Amino acid sequence: MVSSTIGLWLLTAGIVSAKTCYNTTIEVPVSSRNAVFNGIKTPVTNQDATAFALNATRQGGNFTETALTGYATVSGHYNISAQYCVPNKPTSDGVNLQILTHGVGFDKTYWDLPFNNYNYSYVDYALSRGYHTLSYDRLGLGNSSHGEPKNEIQSFLEVEALAQITRLIRNGSVPGINQKPSKVIHVGHSFGSAQTYALSAKYPDLSDALVLTGFSLNASYNSLFLAGANFQQARLNRAVVDRKTSNYSLGYLTNANSGNNEYLFFYPEHFDPKILAFAEQTKQPVTVGELLTIASVPSGSEFTGPVFVIDGANDLPFCGGDCTATGGTATSIAAGVKLAFPSTKAFSAYIQPNTGHGLNLHYNATAGYKQIADFLQQHGFGKK
Ligand SMILES: *[C@@H]1O[C@H](CO)[C@@H](O)[C@H](O)[C@H]1NC(C)=O
Ligand SMILES: *[C@@H]1O[C@H](CO)[C@@H](O)[C@H](O)[C@H]1NC(C)=O
Ligand SMILES: *[C@@H]1O[C@H](CO)[C@@H](O)[C@H](O)[C@H]1NC(C)=O
Ligand SMILES: *[C@@H]1O[C@H](CO)[C@@H](O)[C@H](O)[C@H]1NC(C)=O
Ligand SMILES: *[C@@H]1O[C@H](CO)[C@@H](O)[C@H](O)[C@H]1NC(C)=O
Ligand SMILES: *[C@@H]1O[C@H](CO)[C@@H](O)[C@H](O)[C@H]1NC(C)=O
Ligand SMILES: *[C@@H]1O[C@H](CO)[C@@H](O)[C@H](O)[C@H]1NC(C)=O
Ligand SMILES: *[C@@H]1O[C@H](CO)[C@@H](O)[C@H](O)[C@H]1NC(C)=O
Ligand SMILES: *[C@@H]1O[C@H](CO)[C@@H](O)[C@H](O)[C@H]1NC(C)=O
Ligand SMILES: *[C@@H]1O[C@H](CO)[C@@H](O)[C@H](O)[C@H]1NC(C)=O
Repeated sequence: MVSSTIGLWLLTAGIVSAKTCYNTTIEVPVSSRNAVFNGIKTPVTNQDATAFALNATRQGGNFTETALTGYATVSGHYNISAQYCVPNKPTSDGVNLQILTHGVGFDKTYWDLPFNNYNYSYVDYALSRGYHTLSYDRLGLGNSSHGEPKNEIQSFLEVEALAQITRLIRNGSVPGINQKPSKVIHVGHSFGSAQTYALSAKYPDLSDALVLTGFSLNASYNSLFLAGANFQQARLNRAVVDRKTSNYSLGYLTNANSGNNEYLFFYPEHFDPKILAFAEQTKQPVTVGELLTIASVPSGSEFTGPVFVIDGANDLPFCGGDCTATGGTATSIAAGVKLAFPSTKAFSAYIQPNTGHGLNLHYNATAGYKQIADFLQQHGFGKK
């Protein structure tokens, strides 16, 4: 018995949205070769969090290398909190499933924001184009299992968790999800895109198509993210502490306040100020182990299926505020991702205007969702 589903499926049948969603917890065995970062201590105070940021942004340095003392296998059984959504009018053809992996600062609700009656919901739009969706809290965060923040909860372990969830759902082993998908599209945002990309390099057979949102392979602007967050301990941060369901150990960091949240994820004058307040109230942390492994992705992927990249034109962490810049090697920083996919049969990069890094939180978000679904449809997925 390698997996089980805990408890009952919780059914949320919304009146406002034409969808039926099931909440569940999937218990999976996960094992990965993790980095051992014993060259540094886990930051345990707010001053340590700032010291960590200073270390990680020092020019000419590579703090991941400074911290790295070796590698070790990390294995465990972990709970993954997931939401599976189906349209109220199911399609008769095979199920095309999108597996949605969120980025830093968010949880699975990034894809199905309840804000303003779900009119920013990526899930609602995907369902209207014929998909089923599975969104989940990345391992270590939200209602998924938490863990030790330096040597355990790292990108490597999370990619293996994504692979396990995908295998289970592909072979119909998640109780309550009756239909095996005929096609699986992995969709990521930001760090979730980095993990989706890494998954495609390691296990190319698990995906039929990839959508990488808020992503590039230009690491030049990482330090703007690390500095702009003004990291504090999540455990000591009012917006996180106020939520009774959050319980993070020291070494889980969060942006200090809504000004930092705006700097990292938003493009001014193109979002509802209330959605910034909402994002700040519901923000999720990041572990130091994640921050030290965000850039630890393979240099290329032999994935052969279609790949779509979409970035906000004004994305800060992956484009330094301008994704239309050439990136030195391609027509734009977003288009530069193609170099990492030498075997893809179809690649397209799109730059969504008037949008920062958190694409789904801007006024024009749904027009971007349409670009994604139109690309996929051209390659045989979903419907008009
Ligand atoms: C299911 O989870 C979502 C958050 O992802 C939450 O808003 C909703 O209330 C949950 N539904 C139930 C029935 O627990
Ligand atoms: C900062 O880096 C130094 C070594 O360069 C290390 O001794 C120290 O623990 C680091 N501090 C944090 C909080 O990362
Ligand atoms: C920094 O060091 C890590 C660990 O040795 C390595 O994987 C990574 O490629 C280095 N990054 C850069 C930009 O050189
Ligand atoms: C998963 O959650 C269930 C229910 O809360 C709990 O009994 C079980 O111990 C958890 N498993 C892990 C690996 O945390
Ligand atoms: C959501 O609704 C508001 C008005 O209530 C509108 O201004 C905005 O453009 C809508 N956003 C999306 C993503 O549909
Ligand atoms: C996590 O669980 C709590 C209830 O325990 C629920 O209120 C909340 O919506 C859940 N969050 C997510 C992201 O699933
Ligand atoms: C489903 O996938 C899991 C994970 O790889 C595997 O352990 C299990 O045996 C598979 N089950 C079936 C019915 O194929
Ligand atoms: C939060 O986690 C700590 C251990 O890190 C534990 O002592 C405490 O009981 C937990 N609190 C809740 C409300 O789960
Ligand atoms: C990143 O993009 C900038 C242009 O905005 C370019 O000057 C730089 O060479 C790029 N870096 C890499 C590593 O591609
Ligand atoms: C909204 O997005 C669409 C699709 O990318 C784009 O064509 C349009 O110009 C955008 N509108 C604004 C006001 O940015």
